[in-house]
Amino acid sequence: MALSPIDEKLFAAAEAIRPRAHVPYSHFHVGAAILADDGNIYAGCNIENAAYPLGNCAEASAIAAMIAGGGKRITRIFVTGPGSAPVTPCGGCRQRIREFADVDTPVICLGVEGKPLETTLQALLPHSFGPEFLG
Ligand code: THU
Repeated sequence: MALSPIDEKLFAAAEAIRPRAHVPYSHFHVGAAILADDGNIYAGCNIENAAYPLGNCAEASAIAAMIAGGGKRITRIFVTGPGSAPVTPCGGCRQRIREFADVDTPVICLGVEGKPLETTLQALLPHSFGPEFLG
């Protein structure tokens, strides 16, 4: 798996936080790492809840870390999870990313036993609705 230097850093950050996921129900550990407009990397993991719908995805946790840490925009985001199929953001997280990213923002998805899929927010969420619609 040949990654660019920045993707190596994002992968390392996502993988460092992934074991900390609170996943007693799915046992599906996910890590996400954002390169933000301030140059910093912000990472998060999924956090499930006994009341299932209240669980947080790793992407949502990484966005929360970015906002709390002072970052404003997502310039690149890397998602890692188990298995060999690329772990792609759920529909809700595509919209969460849309709030803080341009449509051409790269999204790199990896099942750690497989190969990375590099795509864009535009490909994952076509014809999307975003903040600019609200003036
Ligand atoms: N999950 C994420 O955190 N991010 C993704 O991109 C896909 C799914 C989480 C949600 C839930 O905790 C577990 O993975 C199984 O769906």
